[in-house]
This record gives sequence, C-alpha cells and structure tokens, in this order.
Amino acid sequence: MALNSLGRLLVLLAAAYSGAEANNLFRSPRQAPGSIFTVGNGEQCLGSDRSTGGVCLSRNQCNTQGGKAIGFCGVFATCCSLNACDVRTNTKVAIFINPPLNRESSGLECSYNVEINNNNVCQMRIDFETFNLAPPTTVEPVENVTQRPGFTCRNDIFQVTNLQANSDFLPPLCGDNNGQHLYVRVNASTNSRSIRINFKIADRNTQPNLPQATWKIKVTQLECFNTLGKYRDGLFEAITSSLPSTPLSSSADRDEYLIAPPGCLQYYPDRSGSFESFNYNRGAGPYIANLAYSTCFKRTPDVCGVKLTSASFEMAYRDEQNLYLDTDCQVNPVTQGAPQSEDYLFIPEAETADGLRGTKFCGSSASNQIIASTPPGPLSVHFRSDNLVTDDIPESGYRFNYNVLNNCYLKT
Ligand SMILES: *[C@@H]1O[C@H](CO)[C@@H](O)[C@H](O)[C@H]1NC(C)=O
Ligand SMILES: *[C@@H]1O[C@H](CO)[C@@H](O)[C@H](O)[C@H]1NC(C)=O
Repeated sequence: MALNSLGRLLVLLAAAYSGAEANNLFRSPRQAPGSIFTVGNGEQCLGSDRSTGGVCLSRNQCNTQGGKAIGFCGVFATCCSLNACDVRTNTKVAIFINPPLNRESSGLECSYNVEINNNNVCQMRIDFETFNLAPPTTVEPVENVTQRPGFTCRNDIFQVTNLQANSDFLPPLCGDNNGQHLYVRVNASTNSRSIRINFKIADRNTQPNLPQATWKIKVTQLECFNTLGKYRDGLFEAITSSLPSTPLSSSADRDEYLIAPPGCLQYYPDRSGSFESFNYNRGAGPYIANLAYSTCFKRTPDVCGVKLTSASFEMAYRDEQNLYLDTDCQVNPVTQGAPQSEDYLFIPEAETADGLRGTKFCGSSASNQIIASTPPGPLSVHFRSDNLVTDDIPESGYRFNYNVLNNCYLKT
C-alpha cells in the first residue's frame, strides 16, 4: 500500500517535472539576453551629461518602457531616462520615475498602464522605492469645535485603478511612503488585462509651500504557482527540494516567494524586517483617514507566530481612562449616528511582554511594547482608520520591527 502510493507520487512528480521543463522552454524567449536580469541591473545611473539620472536597462527594455537612452551603464546596457509621464508597458519589471518637477510646476497627471505580461501573472507588486508627495490634509480648525474630518489626500494623489476584482479596494495615498509597497491582484482572463497607476500632482504655482513631488516605483508582475509549485507546501516540500535545480528556476518559481496570500495589501515574506503605517513620515505622520487593509507575513510550516517590537505607536483613542485595548478602541454596541474615533491596529491573539492580552490596539497601547501574535491562521495585522481627528489626540501612526517565531512558548 505504502509502496503503491509512493509509486503514484513519483509518477506525479515526473509529470510535474516535465511540465515545468516545457514551461521553461516556452518562457525562454522572454528571458533571453537583453532582459533586465542579465544586462541592465535596474540600478540608478547617470546620463552622459553626468547630471541626468536614469535607470540601467537593456536598450530593448528602455524602448519598451517608453524610456529614452541618455548614456551607457553596466554590461552593454543603456542609462535609460524613465520619466515619461504617460507610459504603457507590459514588461515583467517596470520602473517609473517622476518627470522633472519643481516649485513652478503647474499641476500634472501621470498615468502608467501596466499590461499583464503573460497568462500566469496573478499579482503585481508595486514597490515605492521613492515616494514623496504632498501630505494628507484636513480642514482648518473652527473655534470651539474639537473634531475635524480625518487626514486625506487632497493635493497630490496616488491611486491604482482599473482593478480586476470588485473586492479589492485601494485607497488614494500621499505623503511620505518611501520603502512601502502594495499588492494588486490581476486576472489575465479579463478584457482590459491592465492596471492603471496614476499620480495626480497639485499645482505648485498656487501652492508653493507644498514639498516637491518625487517618486520611483517598481512594478513586478508575479506569476502564480506552476504545477510543481502547488505541491511544494508541507509534505511535498522535503521531496521537491532535493530535485535538481532546473525545474525550479522558471520565473514562476522565483516569483513564488513573493506571492501574497489573498486579501493582503502588503506582504512581508522575509523572516524579519520592519513595517510602518502609510505616511509614517519618520514618526511625524499623520496616517491617512478611511483606510482598512491587511499587512501579512509569511507562515512557513515551522512558524507559529510573529513577534512585533514597536519603534513607535500613536493612534487615536476614545477615552483617556483605559488600557487602549479592544473595547476601549471600538464602541460596542454600535451607536448609530454618533461619530466615534475608532482607529486601531488589529493584532490577532496578541500578548504583550507585560502579560496584557487583546486584539485591537489604539492610543499608545502598543508603544514601547514587544507583542507576540500567535493566531492559528494566517499571520497578519489589520489597520483601520476612521474619518475623524480630535484636537490634541495625535494620529502619527506606527513602526514595528517583526520576527516570525518558531517557538510560541517563548513570548519575548
Ligand atoms: C466659544 O466658546 C466660548 C466659551 O463658551 C464663547 O464665549 C464663544 O462665543 C464661542 N465661540 C464661537 C465661535 O462659538
Ligand atoms: C478571472 O476572470 C474570469 C472572467 O471574468 C473569471 O471567470 C475567473 O473566475 C477569474 N479568475 C479569478 C482567479 O478570479
């Protein structure tokens, strides 16, 4: 019996192996010399005038991304200026940089249409290598009124549109989001086969006090599991890891590490790192109103939780006389028609180093804390902000370092 099922397993693996090889052959034209991985390294470079910045790409990559060659770099590559404002591309990795903007720039809209590169693409990861836009704003204070609408993006606005799943909601972003990223789900069978990334930049003539807008974003098209990849979790992992490296070298296999679980706007596949709220702005914030999204971590078979060490944490609260946990962060039952400040970070099955347990953190409850989150399911935290700010209650946001845990009896 055992022998019989082993035999079937081997047949299955052999089939998967040859399928992956066929895939590789099929893919090889795209990975030919001249791709971003072999010639241009995607690093920043200087044009032949020694002052204009560009990105090191192959000549072909530069052309298909609507760029302009301004010099040489790397191994037979061109220093490519990618700051065209209306770009349509389908390259596996695309980089978009703001056009020259200065204090005199009179408003601008830049749209990047990213078309699905091939039918295996299921997600796009958008990395904000540089992202400095005007900060979110609220209305001017009114005498004797302590509450105002939350901070939203009214001047410069970044948004991804033409999304292909109704359940996906991407909030407009602005402010300082250097180093942040987000994921977008795509579906190759839909008609449009593209997403639109849009930067709407406010007129600096009429608002000369706004900071200069700069961005460099990288869009990576991620291909979902091939046949072999599907079997790689759990039991099959040990077996496939001993296979020769050939079937695992397709781009889908390289992408697998970066594929986010469903429903995650942000995903951190590394075992340790840090994450922060949008427009954390080096601790000054404020975070953006009306956001609700998940930040997820990779749960490999050895992992039982995630440890969060806060560098700073400052969210709104409703009442000064409490622990800023759970029901202190959210009114229960719902009071219809009464605006309530209900901002929080949801950390499932959390326990602080001080022994406090809870799931919703607001106010300063996660400040200077080490928190172990050990849920039985996916590893994630959920951010939620309402559309309200209250005078003297700061909403600067948070930054955490994280480490996945493989011993959940040790809390710190
Ligand atoms: C604000 O409140 C003070 C004290 O109650 C009152 O004298 C003043 O008229 C109020 N101002 C406005 C604009 O309502
Ligand atoms: C992709 O879109 C097609 C056509 O709208 C739909 O039938 C299919 O279920 C979608 N696939 C996924 C994974 O959402």
